[in-house]
Amino acid sequence: MTYLADKSRYDTMPYNCCGKWGLKLPAISLGLWHNFGGVDVFENGRKMLHHAFDLGITHIDLANNYGPPPGSAEKNFGKILKQDLGAYRDELIISTKAGYDMWPGPYGEWGSRKYVLASLNQSLKRMGLEYVDIFYSHRPDPDTPLEETMGALDQAVRSGKALYAGISNYPADMARKASRILKELGTPCLIHQPKYSMFERWVEDGLLDVLEEEGIGCIPFSPLAQGLLTNKYLNGIPEGSRATREVFLKKEDVKSAHDKIVKLNKIAFDRGQSLAQMALAWILKDKRITSVLIGASSVAQLDDNMETLKNLGFSEDELKMIEVVLE
Ligand SMILES: NC(=O)c1ccc[n+]([C@@H]2O[C@H](COP(=O)([O-])OP(=O)(O)OC[C@H]3O[C@@H](n4cnc5c(N)ncnc54)[C@H](OP(=O)(O)O)[C@@H]3O)[C@@H](O)[C@H]2O)c1
Repeated sequence: MTYLADKSRYDTMPYNCCGKWGLKLPAISLGLWHNFGGVDVFENGRKMLHHAFDLGITHIDLANNYGPPPGSAEKNFGKILKQDLGAYRDELIISTKAGYDMWPGPYGEWGSRKYVLASLNQSLKRMGLEYVDIFYSHRPDPDTPLEETMGALDQAVRSGKALYAGISNYPADMARKASRILKELGTPCLIHQPKYSMFERWVEDGLLDVLEEEGIGCIPFSPLAQGLLTNKYLNGIPEGSRATREVFLKKEDVKSAHDKIVKLNKIAFDRGQSLAQMALAWILKDKRITSVLIGASSVAQLDDNMETLKNLGFSEDELKMIEVVLE
């Protein structure tokens, strides 16, 4: 049965254009990398998706390999879409990606036309969709010419299986080149998805300038440094948190970031915000940022992160204090 969405879902969330393009994304988007796979509690993911939509989070980000097992986040998302949210398809921006290891053999990863287009077909099947809104090359491939990978994105758009093309994890020089190739092909690059947080600032060394020059949007992933930039690890490593799994976030990472987290938390407290809210606002202060792409494991985390929107401004003093901690 169709989920009865909150009528006030568009009252609070700001929507920003992707660079110079007409597509607008919510200031906060939700990614399904963790907590939506076959190993996770389906009903929890379902509740989060309903709640996110009620909050005005219209953009849901996936990739072929999200799970575990790989592909299961797309399958679960497809199931929830069919059961509950299908009637809202035109209110949703759904993205997926191809680039990381997905199936055995030489055509199961990276950036060949063979892999990228086969992967998109598989993703559409898993999600039960006719098209995705944004299709990304998930990472640059050192062995495949950019022309080939960008040609595959162009083909995905021309075939109607994707509405827009995007790139992820491309360094500044390659992003510029990719953008020029796509422009020539007639399918512009809509958006770049880089890793960016207070703890990971490589995009400030050129990428954001390129995106601005080329008119491309920017949607940073892991803006909370996978949970480090929240109150979660202030007093140890709680049961069930990402760091306990020791895969993408390690206990060692928590240990080495602890002093900074405590100091940043104090600055956030003085601003009347949670640390997660300050970390998200800190990214959104740059007008070149279209949206922050968060992950969540509960509805409460979504609510906490949504409160970010109540205080997006920073004084010069606050910014200086943050820089001192991050040095
Ligand atoms: N393009 C790429 O290569 C790439 C790579 C990685 C991610 N991504 C995309 O980016 C999305 C977000 O990545 P991410 O999950 O690493 O983002 P993140 O927002 O930095 O971390 C999310 C994690 O932080 C914790 N958290 C979130 N809000 C919280 C709050 N208010 N209070 C306490 N803890 C909170 C939760 O950890 P617990 O689960 O421990 O509760 C949550 O799972 C992914 O889902 C994916 O769509 C893309």
